[in-house]
Amino acid sequence: MSRPRSGLGADWWRHGVLYQIYPRSFQDSNGDGIGDLPGITARLDHLNGKADSLGIDGIWLSPFYPSPMADFGYDVADYCDVDPRFGTLTDFDELLGSAHERGIRVIVDLVPNHTSDQHPWFLEARASRDNPKRDWYVWADPRADGSPPNGWRSAFPRVGRAWTLDQRTGQYYLHSFTREQPDLNWWNPGVRMAFEEILRFWLDRGVDGFRIDVAHRTVKPRSLRGHRPIENIPGVLDRMPPADEPELHALLRSWRQLLDEYDERMAVGEVFLFDPVKFVSFYGAGEDELHLAFNFAFLRAPWAAEAFRNVVATFERLLPQGAWPDYTLSNHDNPRAISRYALADDPERARRRARLAALMLLTLRGTPFLYYGEEIGMTDGPIPPERVVDVAGRDPERTPMQWDASRGAGFTTGDPWLPISREARTVNVEAQRSDPDSMLGLYRRLIAYRRASPALFGGGYRPIAGLPSDCFGYVREAETGAVAALLNFGDRPVRVRRDRLEGALGFRGGFVLSTDPGRGGPSSAGSFELEPDEGLLIENGGQPEAEDPLR
Ligand code: NOJ
Ligand code: CA
Repeated sequence: MSRPRSGLGADWWRHGVLYQIYPRSFQDSNGDGIGDLPGITARLDHLNGKADSLGIDGIWLSPFYPSPMADFGYDVADYCDVDPRFGTLTDFDELLGSAHERGIRVIVDLVPNHTSDQHPWFLEARASRDNPKRDWYVWADPRADGSPPNGWRSAFPRVGRAWTLDQRTGQYYLHSFTREQPDLNWWNPGVRMAFEEILRFWLDRGVDGFRIDVAHRTVKPRSLRGHRPIENIPGVLDRMPPADEPELHALLRSWRQLLDEYDERMAVGEVFLFDPVKFVSFYGAGEDELHLAFNFAFLRAPWAAEAFRNVVATFERLLPQGAWPDYTLSNHDNPRAISRYALADDPERARRRARLAALMLLTLRGTPFLYYGEEIGMTDGPIPPERVVDVAGRDPERTPMQWDASRGAGFTTGDPWLPISREARTVNVEAQRSDPDSMLGLYRRLIAYRRASPALFGGGYRPIAGLPSDCFGYVREAETGAVAALLNFGDRPVRVRRDRLEGALGFRGGFVLSTDPGRGGPSSAGSFELEPDEGLLIENGGQPEAEDPLR
């Protein structure tokens, strides 16, 4: 079993910087146009282990298991193997070993809500009503008029109803996503045991944790009834099968206990709920359910200091003792942050905003998850209609990683499964590698600074009161030092008076890092300006007079 080499210890998932890899899109090693596991292994230097690596402490791999690919791997046909398009189990072990040598932990995706309709369990279940596997899935009789048992809808609008009639056995099966993804019945003890074996299979191989797909929806109400209101949207019902069944929390506690039998392992759940009280309940009492729950609140926040400030304030207030926040700007299901921040005809502006967001993500109290390509400012790729492959419009955020300016962007020598974005000629790793002012340079500096700063590594969080309304500012403080972040979300410069700022911070500090490559060294004047969309870090004890303290 491979174990990681890393100085971060058991709490690596609190202190590390984590990075999501969508395997299809990261690196193709055999020219078939599809990214694969050997490709990821070949690119680990980008993430850690070399002087000019990003400095990533862990990777989350979206599914690479055998799959008919109706949902690009989130329809799993065998939980304990590798799809031949992605490689073999030996390739996985090599990836795990190489990652561990570099101090990179590896989190794999666990998909417990549903299987593929080609999974042997479902093939058995649909063979007859009295098959022993029948009850592993959610079946229900048609209503008197032959219509589906209830009005539950799939998460994907194009799929429509969440029920499909199995003609042969005359019952409907439930699918919260595509028809090819039948939901498992989590009330059946056989399902629970099967998943415990799956968890152990990967833990025994040495994986460091799991990202749990749809962690908030796996257990359905026994009654197969009901709709819950959509959080924070009064009067609107969620048309999907209800989330957040109490039994779900018992399931998560049992998995936590299983993980605790091993050393230094963790689980991070996809909890796509926007009611903060419900959301934090997935941490249980603080240390008995999920280690981390993906907080997607930033993905919906409008570009305003108040919105971001409120997100952080809410979770800092609600998280139970011992629980640790987690923040994300992008993933494979949502438009990339830099594209969400785009203003018509002003790509430069989006870039500035993305830089500010990067500084925020990497200096908040909480584990940051980056999405591949975010570190170079990759935007959503344009997808011509004839190249659309995803059922839910998520192709743009899944275009191939942009490594260099070549025809295949260094991703493939063949025809890529999704088109390579035209911007790859200029926006790529190669072009940014040695430019400290580039997005990659900024990410690298932020990650290195975070790692070296006790305040950012594990210090407390205190919002700074009294800043201009367009500004979000906070202090991170540990016994050995403090760092303040000032973020100007507005489109005008903001003048900050030093004496007032220092009063609010409780310390005199010097600038250490700005998202604005144009910022010169600090002047000794009594005030300074934060440029529009500028993020600035100020360190306790830093010398305001120091020469060029921004590099
Ligand atoms: C959430 C995953 O992130 C998404 O890509 C997938 O389609 C659904 N869960 C269903 O597994
Ligand atoms: Ca390949």
